[in-house]
Amino acid sequence: MVKLTKEMRDVIDKPHFIKFLATSSKAGNPNVVPMLFIRTMDEETLLLVNNFHNKTRRNIEENPRVALTVLDLDKCDGYQFKGTVEVHDKGKIFEDAVNWVKSTFAKPEVMESLAKWLYAPVKPTTKSAIVMKVKEVYTVKPGPEPGKKLL
Ligand SMILES: Cc1cc2nc3c(=O)[nH]c(=O)nc-3n(C[C@H](O)[C@H](O)[C@H](O)COP(=O)(O)O)c2cc1C
Repeated sequence: MVKLTKEMRDVIDKPHFIKFLATSSKAGNPNVVPMLFIRTMDEETLLLVNNFHNKTRRNIEENPRVALTVLDLDKCDGYQFKGTVEVHDKGKIFEDAVNWVKSTFAKPEVMESLAKWLYAPVKPTTKSAIVMKVKEVYTVKPGPEPGKKLL
């Protein structure tokens, strides 16, 4: 069991930091997607919200092992988290994910910033909550100990 440090949790919980979720099919076909709706649940558990997953969803159905990279570009620092996931499409964890997305998109500034990116901003529909148990943590910081295992 790992215990994420405060620095690790702070990077994950910065809502505007884009994270990258890597999955793989049973046959080993890799896939990586950017994600914003990721936050900590406790010291070893993360919540990832599936609003638009397609190949990611299929891969997770076949293979629960995932990797997640989170960057702090201001510090040229970041982490790679590896672990396993469980999908919830009903129940309290799912409802919490639905409410998180709804309340985020209820903020006018969110729609305004999305309008800069998209011709017609799409309000997402949450399909599932993905609970990730972190098993290993590595640094992605460039330097003398590249890829060092931290936890
Ligand atoms: C900046 C950004 C943030 C995104 N955040 C999420 C997210 O939090 N949840 C989600 O389901 N999809 C999110 N997406 C969409 C996924 O990256 C991706 O388009 C979707 O999973 C379909 O790709 P796939 O077929 O590889 O799964 C985001 C896309 C961008 C560009």
